[in-house]
Amino acid sequence: MVNYKLLFIISALFATINASRVLDLSDRFSEIRKDGGYWLVTFYAPWCGHCKRLEPIWLNVAQTLSKTNIRVGKIDCTRFPSMATEFNIAGYPTIKFIKPDDEVSYHGDKTKDDIINFAIRMAGPPVQEVTRTESLSGLKNMNQLFFMYVGDQEGPLWDAFYEVSSKMQQHAFFYATNKEIAKAHVDIQDLPAVFVHKENVHFFNPLEHGNSVLEAEHLNGSMYKWINEERFETFPKVTRGNINELMQTRKYLVLVIVEENVLQQIPSEMLEFRDMVEGIIRKKRDKYHRTFQFGWIGTPELANSIAMQVLPLPHLLVLNSTTNHHHIPEDDPTELTVDAIDMFLERICNQSMPAYGGNGLFVRLYRGYFEASTSLGEMWKGNPVLTTVLFGLPLGFLSLIMYSICCADILDAEDDEEDIHEKKD
Ligand SMILES: *[C@@H]1O[C@H](CO)[C@@H](O)[C@H](O)[C@H]1NC(C)=O
Ligand SMILES: *[C@@H]1O[C@H](CO)[C@@H](O)[C@H](O)[C@H]1NC(C)=O
Ligand SMILES: *[C@@H]1O[C@H](CO)[C@@H](O)[C@H](O)[C@H]1NC(C)=O
Repeated sequence: MVNYKLLFIISALFATINASRVLDLSDRFSEIRKDGGYWLVTFYAPWCGHCKRLEPIWLNVAQTLSKTNIRVGKIDCTRFPSMATEFNIAGYPTIKFIKPDDEVSYHGDKTKDDIINFAIRMAGPPVQEVTRTESLSGLKNMNQLFFMYVGDQEGPLWDAFYEVSSKMQQHAFFYATNKEIAKAHVDIQDLPAVFVHKENVHFFNPLEHGNSVLEAEHLNGSMYKWINEERFETFPKVTRGNINELMQTRKYLVLVIVEENVLQQIPSEMLEFRDMVEGIIRKKRDKYHRTFQFGWIGTPELANSIAMQVLPLPHLLVLNSTTNHHHIPEDDPTELTVDAIDMFLERICNQSMPAYGGNGLFVRLYRGYFEASTSLGEMWKGNPVLTTVLFGLPLGFLSLIMYSICCADILDAEDDEEDIHEKKD
């Protein structure tokens, strides 16, 4: 006998949980996850500012994913520190896709669409089959970057594609289809083939990657390298959230720096400059795309913190992704022509351009100091009284105390360093 009344109460309960959609999880989650199903979970701490900013986005994500089989939750790691240990949480917030026997951390930009795409990719097989022509048109219309295999699903090229897509599942969409469906959309000469769909279609050519013979062992490696190089749009917006991912391309990042206002508008003279640089990579893709990943930054603070100076806008900055050194043009950026930028990039390639910054301890310390002092400056501009009260008074007391303790000794260098780290966090 089914107790209908109880069932009704349970489903009503479930409905209210469902309405808030983000499930508040506890340390019982280590048991719950074993029951199967897919989880998208954020590990947070109530005091962390980035977590607060994520909250409305997370609600949105949960709402959208409520139609799928992915459950969305959050775990307060200050209440359940054992969860932070179990899932190796090193910073807040950390987003993870969790299956009963596997978990993957999210590294991209913390925007609704990017997080949802990540979850959807992780909930499916590494390579999804496209079996109808309309589905392929749909994919193309979504304006999303994806990789596609065309041909029989056997042989070395398929093995390499499948292998690499399993490794890169969190970063990109991978599809497979047959000749008939693909031919309606792309011009394919030889089968099997692999291509990336961006604004245009670009084919994978293993021989281009320095292999004189097409050997199975080399195929994995060159496919991996190619997919890693191609997994970003031609001219993406670069943020604190995705810049580390972009550095994984191991290319030089060519960054146009402009300033967006709150409505995401850009002043026309900056827009002109940005369009000019974008035109370079679009027109000369073959020349540049192997060595340079182009992009633009809308928040100058990020660029200033790389360059460790306040750059006039618009500006151009090239970042070496292996050494973290950066290059800036010698001329006033607004005077730069396409030819001058060509020359600038060539000189970076033959290493005759001065390099600044890098990753040394001193540079990192100075960068921390620069970030802390500029954000203090910004605060001062926004609200001088509050800034004085917040920092001035305690600093005043602190210096009095320090003075009385160690007489004329200046602040300890180590204390300074810790301070910087705290502010960066
Ligand atoms: C290449 O792929 C095959 C099968 O797809 C796999 O067994 C092998 O380990 C891969 N090699 C490397 C170097 O990743
Ligand atoms: C970065 O700098 C190193 C050392 O100067 C150099 O070998 C490398 O080619 C540069 N470029 C990239 C994209 O890492
Ligand atoms: C580097 O490239 C620039 C521009 O093509 C050229 O003028 C310069 O002579 C080159 N320098 C070296 C050391 O090859």
